[in-house]
Amino acid sequence: MEPTTTSDPAPAHTGDQSREQWSSKIGFVLAAAGSAIGLGNIWRFPYVTGENGGAAFVIVYLACIALICLPYLLAELALGRHSQKNPVGAIRAVAGRTPWVIVGGLGILTGLFILSYYGVIAGWTFGYIFKNVASPDTTFTEFIATPWLVLPLFVLFLGFTAAIVQGGVEDGIERAAKVLMPILLVLMLLVIVRGVTLEGASAGLSFYLNPDFSKIGSEAIVAALGQAFFSLSLGMGAMVTYGSYLPEEENLLSAGGWVALFDTSIALLAGLMIFPAVFALDADPQAGPTLVFDVLPGLFQQMPLGTVVGMLFFLLLSVAALTSTVSLMEVVVSYCMDEQQWSRSKSVAVVTGAAFVFGFPAALSQGISPALGDMSWLVGEGGVLGATDFLGIMDKIWGDISLALGALLLCVFVGWVWSTADAAMEIRSGEGAFAPGTARLWGAFVRYVCPLVILVVVLNAFDLFSYFGLFD
Ligand code: TRP
Repeated sequence: MEPTTTSDPAPAHTGDQSREQWSSKIGFVLAAAGSAIGLGNIWRFPYVTGENGGAAFVIVYLACIALICLPYLLAELALGRHSQKNPVGAIRAVAGRTPWVIVGGLGILTGLFILSYYGVIAGWTFGYIFKNVASPDTTFTEFIATPWLVLPLFVLFLGFTAAIVQGGVEDGIERAAKVLMPILLVLMLLVIVRGVTLEGASAGLSFYLNPDFSKIGSEAIVAALGQAFFSLSLGMGAMVTYGSYLPEEENLLSAGGWVALFDTSIALLAGLMIFPAVFALDADPQAGPTLVFDVLPGLFQQMPLGTVVGMLFFLLLSVAALTSTVSLMEVVVSYCMDEQQWSRSKSVAVVTGAAFVFGFPAALSQGISPALGDMSWLVGEGGVLGATDFLGIMDKIWGDISLALGALLLCVFVGWVWSTADAAMEIRSGEGAFAPGTARLWGAFVRYVCPLVILVVVLNAFDLFSYFGLFD
């Protein structure tokens, strides 16, 4: 495979000429940022930060983004644009028939499973648009334990996602995201101002901004890296797929940089929105997944026009979640179309059905079915990385472990099997600079630094070091 080094008017290297493309770099950056920005930033980041001790965790998280995720993001984008394929097809396109395609397959499976439980949480978000008007006294715990609410909401949200993936992403969701994402940002800023001016908010600011590194253990580092991958939609080939629609003349370095910058800023702002309010309203920062849903409505109540702000906030959060579920579904659908030769409609129908089957127990695991709510009968008292409920276990397995594992393997694939020289050439082929020195540095990260760090973190997650008597 010869990488193209000039801007070629027919950019498809190996794919078919009819493959869709983003209309512009802005289009790509918005779509990729839309995939990245979602519940991961606004719901998951604050509670994972809260569980892992606050500011020190945030610093570890930022280091993961800059040193591991950004170089790795470029590798995914380069592989995607070069091959113009879904993750499985991309690996085959550059390396032929090799066992490495299994890594692509793992990515597809991961996308399906994340979609299944993510859709459940997105359904709650959607329900929360109306909840505080319809039934303000219902607590979050009661809400998610009400089957006739959570199941229809989950189905509805999967339906929205399917409709958009079926109808094509660019016109609908991209255009909507262009308008709605900036509104979300403004709204977050408003809520932040209210939050930090509440009495007692400073304790929250100090929790969020004053690092205490004694709180960082190996579990916190696993969580930080897992969260960084999850938030940037990395480790399962979503950015391979989105990169495959990128025109040749676009600069991958700056496109990737913008996506990482937007995503990280929104996550940091989400923390700023939540923690002052958590402390001012006397909530528990370690509350876990319920944190945002419990705390924010209390904060809205203290704002002028709080009801409207609350409704608008959960509406926009639903939109952010929708652009993320769309990307999750699109990866699996693009695989079904490219590799199984199914039509788009059939792919969408099958993927939606499968997501429903696996999301169903996740929806029931939050207070409806005791057997799914506490699965220690299956996974032992310690759970999977501490989680014992079905949804939590799925999130640990697919959202933390599988993304890290997938990233490790894809990184080794790009660094050692495909070659960083070809990949660097692909990155350089667009406009803008990717100087030889930068390219060499990037190559060293993709070949050595990223895989080693991810490996240590993954081994740690499985407690293998202590098994062999190393490190403590
Ligand atoms: N990044 C999204 C979020 O933060 C979730 C998401 C969308 C995702 N597509 C993904 C996570 C692909 C991992 C892989 O909410």
